[in-house]
Amino acid sequence: MATFKTRLSQISKRNGKIILANDYNSSEKNLTTKTIHNIKTLNPYLCGIKLNFHLLLPLSFKEISKINKTAHNYGLQTIADIKLNDIGNTNKVTTEHLWNLGFDAVIANPIMGLDSLKQLVKSSHKENKGVITLCHMSAPEAKLSYDMEIKMGKSQKLYQLFLDWAITSKVDGIVVGATFPEIIQYCHKKAGSKLDIFSPGIGTQGGSAKNVLSAGTNYLIVGRTIIDDKNPVSISKELQLESFFK
Ligand code: XMP
Repeated sequence: MATFKTRLSQISKRNGKIILANDYNSSEKNLTTKTIHNIKTLNPYLCGIKLNFHLLLPLSFKEISKINKTAHNYGLQTIADIKLNDIGNTNKVTTEHLWNLGFDAVIANPIMGLDSLKQLVKSSHKENKGVITLCHMSAPEAKLSYDMEIKMGKSQKLYQLFLDWAITSKVDGIVVGATFPEIIQYCHKKAGSKLDIFSPGIGTQGGSAKNVLSAGTNYLIVGRTIIDDKNPVSISKELQLESFFK
């Protein structure tokens, strides 16, 4: 079986670089039906779908498995965005559940430490699953933490350390918010093809698809800009076109 990185790259050659953040508010009903409808109507314009706690908490094992199966039937990769950050044993048990649910990859927080991260990557890759780590988040306040000056041998910023750890531990990709294109460019220059860059924060949070793609982003994570639009198909098509012509 191909790796997560290869599977995602293959589908994106055909369908473009948009990953749907399938986020609904807690007041929404029929989350499974709505998500499956999104997969059925939007799949020609997506390479993947990302589920976070908006769905993982309210839905059952059976419902999430059904969503992952449907996504796979349409060729999409699925990502569990839980920003995993725990001790080795807890990370292991958590990812075993995620893989049993049918997910292809997990988003993790590298603050867990380099050794735990290496362990997570090793066990995930053994199952042909992917690991994506946070490098610099998209919210404006992220500057306060991710740009923090730290001293670990040399003086550097926290996101620079997270980038080094991502390369060293051989994760599949990193998350760098679309609202910080200069940091995307920095990470792209430093990591080259070793890491894919995933950027959330397009549209609703102010990021521009065109700018981040030219800065080096490989995949655009888009939620409310698609989900809340009157015509999700047409906005997805527009974004797909932009992602083909960077
Ligand atoms: P919107 O609606 O703003 O949704 O397009 C963005 C999606 O991405 C998640 N998000 C992030 N995830 N690092 C992440 O790993 C980030 O910096 C980040 N910013 C937003 C958010 O939870 C939503 O699903």
